Amino acid sequence: MIPISNVVFGIRIFYNKAGAKMRILQCGTKQDAAETVALMLVERMQSHPASVIGLATGLTMVPLYETWARLDRERSIDHGRGFFFFLDEYLGVSPDHPLSFRQYALNHFIKPLGLREDQFVLPNEHQDYDQLIREAGGIDLQLLGIGKNGHIGFNEPGSFKESRTRKVRLSEETRITNKIPFEEAVSMGISTILEAKEIVLLATGDSKADAIKYVLNHHDDPNCPATYLKSHPSLTLVLDAEAASKINLKI
Ligand code: F6R
Repeated sequence: MIPISNVVFGIRIFYNKAGAKMRILQCGTKQDAAETVALMLVERMQSHPASVIGLATGLTMVPLYETWARLDRERSIDHGRGFFFFLDEYLGVSPDHPLSFRQYALNHFIKPLGLREDQFVLPNEHQDYDQLIREAGGIDLQLLGIGKNGHIGFNEPGSFKESRTRKVRLSEETRITNKIPFEEAVSMGISTILEAKEIVLLATGDSKADAIKYVLNHHDDPNCPATYLKSHPSLTLVLDAEAASKINLKI
């Protein structure tokens, strides 16, 4: 059971065709939304210290990792038995490149929480990432952001629901938004993501409002890969007021 922080002011539950629940937690500010998800992750680590967690990078997640580190200082959480799979990495980027997701992981998560280098991994084209995930017992909780074009991980529009971790070409929109010179990445696939036992998607800011509205109104639509998530049996969307501004939650 996911704990609900005191910054959530609206909860809505939808049922998909198979009867699975999708929860939407609507918060006020982006900080509230990030804290809500940080609390879910921290409570998960406290109750299940050997959890396998899938993590995302990106601007949305920065206040989440800051909150996670603060909660860690306040509660002295045992993270030493956890393992963390990151969603994606640019292809061919050197591990110490400042724009690499490895550097992001180290600076925002691994170092602030005092984790060991052997507790996390990012995908690259030379390893069978899905096999690594299976060997770790599968992902207990997968954290996701969402692109303005509905991508999850770097599964850009046109990605198949059956896709596994693989090399992907980044859309021009993503390259411009992320201000990156890289054209390709390695990303967990949609199937890989859907195999996680629980999925939590965090979206904040008005630039995500159209994508969130699209997700609520469409199902299994390759034009917006996040719509594939709706068939998952345990999906929670955590939104701030801006990301939720184009959906009518009636709460
Ligand atoms: C990051 C990732 C991407 C981002 C998405 C949103 O690991 O896989 O799907 O979650 O591009 O990025 P921000 O948070 O920068 O808007």
